[in-house]
Amino acid sequence: MDTVNNIIEFYKKTKKDWDKFSSVRSSNNNYDLKIEELENKERLSWHLPESCEILQHQDLKSLTEDKKKFIMGVQLLEYVEKTTLFEVEYVNKVANDLALSKLKFNLPDELKVDAFKIYTDEGYHAHFSKKMSNEIKSFYKIEDDLNPYINNFFQRIDGIGSKFDKKYKYLSELSSTIVSETTIVQDMSEQMKGVVYAPIREMFKDHIIDETFHSNYFTTLIKILWPQMSIEEKEIMGFNLCESMVILGKPRTDIFFYSLGRIGYDNSQISKFIDEVYNDPIKKIKKRKKKFASTLKLLERIGVFKIDTVKKEFEKEELI
Ligand SMILES: [Fe+2]
Ligand SMILES: [Fe+2]
Repeated sequence: MDTVNNIIEFYKKTKKDWDKFSSVRSSNNNYDLKIEELENKERLSWHLPESCEILQHQDLKSLTEDKKKFIMGVQLLEYVEKTTLFEVEYVNKVANDLALSKLKFNLPDELKVDAFKIYTDEGYHAHFSKKMSNEIKSFYKIEDDLNPYINNFFQRIDGIGSKFDKKYKYLSELSSTIVSETTIVQDMSEQMKGVVYAPIREMFKDHIIDETFHSNYFTTLIKILWPQMSIEEKEIMGFNLCESMVILGKPRTDIFFYSLGRIGYDNSQISKFIDEVYNDPIKKIKKRKKKFASTLKLLERIGVFKIDTVKKEFEKEELI
């Protein structure tokens, strides 16, 4: 069994000089999209292959390139909007609680101090994500309120663990942050594949460097917190981790009701496209397992699946 000292020594070694720099903050790049300055707008590609599977639908293959780019651009917009909110409202809520010792758990000083580092990094990520979002909005002259297409996701996140007593809210917040922060690197690397437009690629690349350290931080954190939890807390935490994976693993398709709606499709057509592209149960499960593979391995290692009810819940959701 790992001791707290061993865990922290390993953490110190692997975090290297993360506390001395931040990739996004210290980069000279402003990640300006400068779309208007592009000589040949045809070359503009927002391509996010992992998120735009909808375009592979038979009935959408014949869309003009411009319309396809609009769908992708709005998809990227949804991604950066979601990132902005998640970083400051959710991850930083947890970072704040950890840094200021607001949770009941004992935390080594190293992790309290580094929680402020996360807080700062995420602030910069939110800043640049929001900037990118505004640029895409102004390019496509989007003035509509997009919140109705983004809020569902956050309502589901807010509902994590709602079947348990409110006093365990901290376990809901910890679980969604731990799951998202330990999977974001793989998630962004997948998103980045095929992105040819330099400012977007640079932004993803620098963000990934920061998130590699965050992932190491939250991996260390759960190793330290888990043994301190009571049996009841472990069970609730286990259920919340599973619920977090189900929600974070779900493709965010609500935005298609906006983007495809704007190019003339009605809601029933859009629902049909989404259903036909995203609801193949075998594909869905395979994708989700792949996305959370390293986090699931971590949970196995610290003993989460030793709790029978928790193990059954993960099996029910076909995560293990
Ligand atoms: Fe971030
Ligand atoms: Fe992060």
